[in-house]
This record gives sequence, structure tokens and C-alpha cells, in this order.
Amino acid sequence: MCHSEHSGDSLHDRNPGTIGYRVRKMLWDDVEQVRGIDLFCFPTMLPPTNYKTEFINPMAHYLVAYTGPSYDTVADTENPKTLILGFIGLWYLAGEIHVINLAVHPDFRSIGVGELLLIRGIEVAIRLRAILVTLEVRVSNIEAKALYSKYGFSERGIRRAYYLDNREDAAIMTLEQMESPAYIKKLQQLYRTWSEKTGISSETNED
Ligand SMILES: CC(C)(COP(=O)(O)OP(=O)(O)OC[C@H]1O[C@@H](n2cnc3c(N)ncnc32)[C@H](O)[C@@H]1OP(=O)(O)O)[C@@H](O)C(=O)NCCC(=O)NCCS
Repeated sequence: MCHSEHSGDSLHDRNPGTIGYRVRKMLWDDVEQVRGIDLFCFPTMLPPTNYKTEFINPMAHYLVAYTGPSYDTVADTENPKTLILGFIGLWYLAGEIHVINLAVHPDFRSIGVGELLLIRGIEVAIRLRAILVTLEVRVSNIEAKALYSKYGFSERGIRRAYYLDNREDAAIMTLEQMESPAYIKKLQQLYRTWSEKTGISSETNED
């Protein structure tokens, strides 16, 4: 697990399960925190992602999950202490959405943050009328693979020795027909279950 540079922060001292959060587009002021989470979670990634370039990349869509110290479920984006809990990076390319990255700060895992980021990412794909959502994930990454499978992604192939640090294989996972009524219904049901589990209502987590 990655180490936290936020240790001692009052938010980090709270029970993570009691923290409310929302998802919105990444702002310029979020970039440093996003880079920090990326470096914690993917220390062997070479070259590291240049988030300042990504911020102005026209095909990139970055979303962040954020919270702040003075509220539970409604965050003030002007608040300088807004804390980024995790992010998802998407590229819209040739009619496809590629999930470039999805990461949650280690202090805030297992409280639904990754799930909400993925839901919002899939909604972006639906809004852009993408034909599919695709990604690569380490074959050993049980947590991420479980999350993607829960949302209907299926394994479509393997990229051998894809990761340079340990030559681990990548599983290619793909989601199709996100715009079908059956999938929209499934997404809505999963969202309702997420909302019941986290206690965060739809009225307060949509920007
Ligand atoms: C993968 C990751 C984004 C999940 O985020 P998270 O906020 O901790 O996950 P959530 O609390 O939203 O959990 C949602 C689902 O993910 C899966 N999941 C999360 N943690 C899991 C665990 N420890 N074991 C198995 N499945 C797990 C489950 O399907 C879970 O749904 P469930 O609660 O109904 O079982 C997070 O572990 C992470 O940042 N990992 C490091 C970076 C990474 O590997 N990113 C993926 C790159 S492809």
C-alpha cells in the first residue's frame, strides 16, 4: 500500500466511512493532488503521467472525487482545503473511451469512491456515445478487476509483459452497449445500491 503525505490532517484522522464526497471534473488546482495520488499508487509507472499536459489535452476527461473538512456531503470547491480522494482519467479516441487511470488514495479505499468514479466515467462514455469503454489492468489486480467486472466489463485478451517494472501481463477489459436499456437499468440499480451503502444521496453528489 502507498504511504500518505496527508498524515496528521484532521480529515485523514476521521473514520473514512463517515466522510461524504462528490465527483466533478478535475480543476487546475486539483492537479498536484492528483499527481500525488498517482505517484503513491503507481510508483513504477514510467514515464509518470504529465497531468498539466493532460489538463489541456482535448481528448482527455479527468474526474475527481473530493471532500472538504467543513462538511459531510456537500463540498465547497472554493475551499482551499478541498481534499482529492481519487480520480479517473479517460481518453475519448476514435469513438472509444479508454480508461487511462483510476486510483483512490489508500486512506480512503473501500468506502465506494472508486465505484462512484467508475459510474461517472461510464456516464461520460454514454454521453459521448462511445461504442465501448476499454482498459488494461494487471492480471494480479484482484480489487480493480472485481470492480470492473461488477460494472459489466469482460476480459477480452491479454497483453503479454505489458508492465515494464515486472513484465506482468495486462488483462484487456471491455464494456460494450452501455447505451442499451438493459445496461442503463443495471447502472441505475448499481448506483442505487452504492447510494444506500454509502449513505450519500443522489441529490448531493451530482455537480
Ligand atoms: C481499485 C480501486 C480503484 C478500488 O477503489 P475503492 O474506492 O477502494 O473501491 P470501492 O470501495 O468503490 O469498491 C467497489 C468495488 O471494487 C471491488 N473491490 C474494492 N476493494 C476490493 C477488495 N479489497 N477486494 C476485492 N474487491 C474489491 C469490489 O467489486 C467492490 O464492490 P463491492 O463493495 O460490492 O464488493 C482502488 O483499490 C485503487 O485505487 N487501487 C490502486 C490503483 C489501481 O490499481 N487502479 C486500477 C488501475 S486499472
